[in-house]
Amino acid sequence: MESKNASRSSDFPAGGGTNRDSGTISLRRLSPELSLSIRTVPSSVLTASTPSRSPAPPSLHPENSTSAAGYIALSHRLLTNRLNLEFPVTGSFSYLRHGFAIHMYAANKSMDNCALCSADGDFLIVPQEGRLWITTEFGKLQVSPGETVVLPQGVRFVVDLPDGPSRGYVAEIFGTHFQLPDLGPIGGNGLASPRDFLVPVAWFDQGSHPGYVIVQKFGGELFTAKQDFSPFNVAAWHGNYVPYKYDLSKFCPYNTVLIDHGDPSINTVLTAPTDKPGVALLDFVVFPPRWLVAEHTFRPPYYHRNCMSEFMGLIYGGYEAKADGFLPGGASLHSCMTPHGPDTKTYEATIALGNEAGPHRIANTLAFMFESCLIPRVCQWALESPYMDHDYYQCWIGLKSHFTCELGEERKRDLQNGLKEKK
Ligand SMILES: [Fe+2]
Repeated sequence: MESKNASRSSDFPAGGGTNRDSGTISLRRLSPELSLSIRTVPSSVLTASTPSRSPAPPSLHPENSTSAAGYIALSHRLLTNRLNLEFPVTGSFSYLRHGFAIHMYAANKSMDNCALCSADGDFLIVPQEGRLWITTEFGKLQVSPGETVVLPQGVRFVVDLPDGPSRGYVAEIFGTHFQLPDLGPIGGNGLASPRDFLVPVAWFDQGSHPGYVIVQKFGGELFTAKQDFSPFNVAAWHGNYVPYKYDLSKFCPYNTVLIDHGDPSINTVLTAPTDKPGVALLDFVVFPPRWLVAEHTFRPPYYHRNCMSEFMGLIYGGYEAKADGFLPGGASLHSCMTPHGPDTKTYEATIALGNEAGPHRIANTLAFMFESCLIPRVCQWALESPYMDHDYYQCWIGLKSHFTCELGEERKRDLQNGLKEKK
């Protein structure tokens, strides 16, 4: 299964504009679909749990590796290991068709004679370690760390692990689909280009598969059905409601070329919009290698509070604003209006450079952010993880002001008292 199986999309796969043919598909199957039985997944299938909270990444060789059902090696970790950031209505998030969830997965076995499908929402998968060979009803995609793939709601898929154990992140959105952001004043080119999104070509399996299991995520729960044939029996398709992948190294970042900062949203790859312009249900934002050239500007991300909530992950390298403690495979969450910014070490190192810092290239790094206007809740699994960094706040301990004032004592006293300059 090589990437040559993917073809270049002539248009953005999932639509994204009012003038696009959005969300249509036509399949030519080899045989009619038939579900033979439905039952809930035995609880024993859902027991394995692999901690994956920052700063330590999840173990790729969990002691409690899959035993009851290797076929669901990926899917059950998606559901039981998730850092469950969802619309704050208990148990009702997917029924409302509004909201999102963020999962972290660690898989150590390929899915066998089994396919997974989410009736709840689209999956945007960001592998951090280990390639994923994904077979879908539309064909095959190879997705490597440094790439991302979107599997739309309702599409059945299987994941094989050619490199062995794998881990990464998943954003699931309910009630809408990802699309390219509006480029605004940037114009017609820049950021993620439609031409770089790849979709699979049709591939089908005619063989007999007794006991083939379809696992369906529905309303946050798993259900199974058995059939005697592969669901990957589509001989041809057309339309644009299809899986697609994107190589993040093709992203064309924009940033300041003189002073000050752009907001991180300038690095949006894909967005799931709301009815309110500029306030996304979920933005997928990347921080790729790039040049920093700003003058008279504190170059790392400034200290701020955000009306959005920020979930960050790291695919490889380091993150410019965290000198220590943020490792590939880890994650951080800065909720709405929680102050944050560079750690003390980064701050002091930046101040020490003074105003004479020349152009600097940030290299060998790929961080990303899921940003949402909704306020997330953190699931119990994440809160109780032994890998939770309870001392995270200490990265800001020791921050001190480097502000100096060269005014005379009398003038300083006037300023402190709110007095205007004397004439
Ligand atoms: Fe932030």
